[in-house]
Amino acid sequence: MDLFPAVDPIPLPAPVWLFKVLHSATLALHFTAVHLLVGGLAMAAFWALVGRMRGDEARLNASGALAYRLPVAMAYVINLGVPPLLFAQVLYGRALYTSSVIIGLYWISVVFLVIAAYFVLYMMAKRAENGVAYGWLGLIALAIVLKVAVIYTNNMTLMLRPDAWIEMYRNNPVGGQLNGDDPTVLPRWLFMMIGSLGVAGVGLILLGMKTRLPASATLLLRRRGGLALAAFTLLQVALAWRVLAAQPESVRTALAGHAFYRLVALLWLATAVLLVALGLFAAVRAAKRSWLSATLCGAAAFVNILLMVLFRDGIRDMALLQFGYDVWAREINTNWAIVMLFLALFVGAAGLVAWMAAVTARAKGVDETYA
Ligand code: HEM
Repeated sequence: MDLFPAVDPIPLPAPVWLFKVLHSATLALHFTAVHLLVGGLAMAAFWALVGRMRGDEARLNASGALAYRLPVAMAYVINLGVPPLLFAQVLYGRALYTSSVIIGLYWISVVFLVIAAYFVLYMMAKRAENGVAYGWLGLIALAIVLKVAVIYTNNMTLMLRPDAWIEMYRNNPVGGQLNGDDPTVLPRWLFMMIGSLGVAGVGLILLGMKTRLPASATLLLRRRGGLALAAFTLLQVALAWRVLAAQPESVRTALAGHAFYRLVALLWLATAVLLVALGLFAAVRAAKRSWLSATLCGAAAFVNILLMVLFRDGIRDMALLQFGYDVWAREINTNWAIVMLFLALFVGAAGLVAWMAAVTARAKGVDETYA
């Protein structure tokens, strides 16, 4: 019996490899933003609470600088989440739509949770600007954002279990359930969330390069950023092992037998080791502002995320293949004129965003204090 809903009779309008490239590139950007948001929010809340308790100006200033930027990070999370969602639906719609329906109530709640988190982040930023306590608001926003991540992980893992769908749908047709009994869910969620604390370390190092913040705060940002990058990347490597061990044996064997995914895993590990070394270096040399070190951390972190996205894609393809779903076997009818127009607009839009980011980075700004 075919476990998947009937295929859409309209062929794909572009080759599978092109959708895959676009999906991986945009998903790596989404994950970068997610990591900066989750990790940055955790650090901002922690420093706001500790800083206020101890009357520590450096922590309060560092936390305020983070809180002030979190609504922007959230905007990037959402906007950079839309493109990979569209590409994933094109490639894996028969699996992804089905799992989305099975956890429907939770899935639809993401919209409201994201709005709520956004609202709380704006409140935090406002209170940080006015020097009013906001650590508790940070904890609320963090709880909401972590819940959104739980729902995403549940959907992205349930889409890989077509053998569980019918039973789950019969048991709860209104979608009030998650992918609870799947052993891959918890390690996968932890992998992403702990990874967030590491990648946010890079964000802290970069924020610590600002000269408009008090020197004590920027030193704290650079030092703690380096330490977070090293410590949490190390922890993430251990969790990567857990994620792999939790996969069904057939998926592990298929990945191990695939030269491309073996190479990707190896490169991911190499970049993780490099990040640990770069993080330690940044922490030890925190007293010196080094754009070279900060840029290297940023570049290595992005390559590391991109490699993780590729390997994660391998887990999905191998898992679905076990049930007869071959993403490469779709009927294709490429309309090159439309593809070219799309690519031109895509590159143009990416260029505009890069220009906007460059203008923001070059902006002189004003002196920032939050204590
Ligand atoms: C606070 C908000 C958000 C958080 C914390 C978050 C977090 C995550 C996490 C942790 C994953 C990985 C799940 C896994 O595979 O284990 C994920 C995947 C994804 N997220 Fe987000 N997300 C957020 C908002 C959004 C929004 C608003 C969109 C789209 C409009 C989006 C689109 C996606 C897509 C498309 C994927 C995976 C695609 C794929 O596997 O092909 N996310 N997100």
